[in-house]
Amino acid sequence: MDENWERHADRLAARSLRAGDPTGWFEELYSAGRAGSVAVPWNRVQPHPLLAAWTRERAPDGTGLRAVVVGCGLGADAEHVATLGYDTVAFDVSGTAVDLARDRHPGSTVRYVVADLLALPPDWLGVHDLVVEVYTVQALPEPPRRRAIGEVARLVAPGGTLVVVAAARGDADPEPDGPPWPLTRDEIEAFATGDLGAVAINRIPDQDDPAFARWFAEFRRR
Ligand SMILES: C[S@@+](CC[C@H](N)C(=O)[O-])C[C@H]1O[C@@H](n2cnc3c(N)ncnc32)[C@H](O)[C@@H]1O
Repeated sequence: MDENWERHADRLAARSLRAGDPTGWFEELYSAGRAGSVAVPWNRVQPHPLLAAWTRERAPDGTGLRAVVVGCGLGADAEHVATLGYDTVAFDVSGTAVDLARDRHPGSTVRYVVADLLALPPDWLGVHDLVVEVYTVQALPEPPRRRAIGEVARLVAPGGTLVVVAAARGDADPEPDGPPWPLTRDEIEAFATGDLGAVAINRIPDQDDPAFARWFAEFRRR
C-alpha cells in the first residue's frame, strides 16, 4: 500500500476541485481503496455513535415507513436504520462505494443505489419518513455545499425526521482549503427551511479532543 488514504484523498480532492468537479474524487478514492493501493476510505463498520445514541433514546419504529441514507459510503448507518424496520434506500455518488456496500452486506434489505445528492430523482422528494445525513455535506466545497443542504432537506416527507451529523466549525474560524469543511452554526441551521423545523441542534465536544466538536441535529417537517 503506497500511502494512507487521507493523504491520497487530499491530493485527489485538490485536483478534482481545481478542475471544477467537487464530487469526482470520491469515486477515484474508493476505486483506489478497492484496488488496494490505499486503505478503503471511511471504513466504518458500526453506525455513527451519535446516530446510534439517538435511535436508542427514541427507539423509532420504522415499520411501514421509508428511510434514506445520504452519501452512505460503506453502509454502516444504512444497515442500522434498516434494523429499525424502515424500508431503506442508501445512495452514494460513487459507484464503487455502492458496490463495496453491497458486497459488505450480502442479503441486506437496504437498496444501495448510485445517485447524486445534487441531482436527486424527483420521486425521492418529500417521501422519506427518516433522512440520515452523516458527513456528506461537509465533504463538499461552497458552492455547492449550501445547495446540498437544501437538497437533503427536500428528501423529508410531511411529518418526517432528518438527522444530521457533521463536524462543527466556529463562525470566526477560516474556511479550510480542502475537505472536510466542518459546518458553521449558520450552515447547520440552514437545514431548517420552510416547514422543516429544528427540533434540536446540539454541539458536542469530542471526548478526546475538546477543541474538536460535532453537530448532532434533528429536524421535523410539519
Ligand atoms: C466523508 S464520506 C462519509 C461516508 C459515510 N456517510 C460515513 O459517514 O462513513 C462522504 C460520502 O459522501 C459521498 N458523496 C459526496 N458527494 C455526494 C453527492 N453529491 N451525492 C451522493 N453522495 C455523495 C461520498 O462518495 C462519500 O461516500
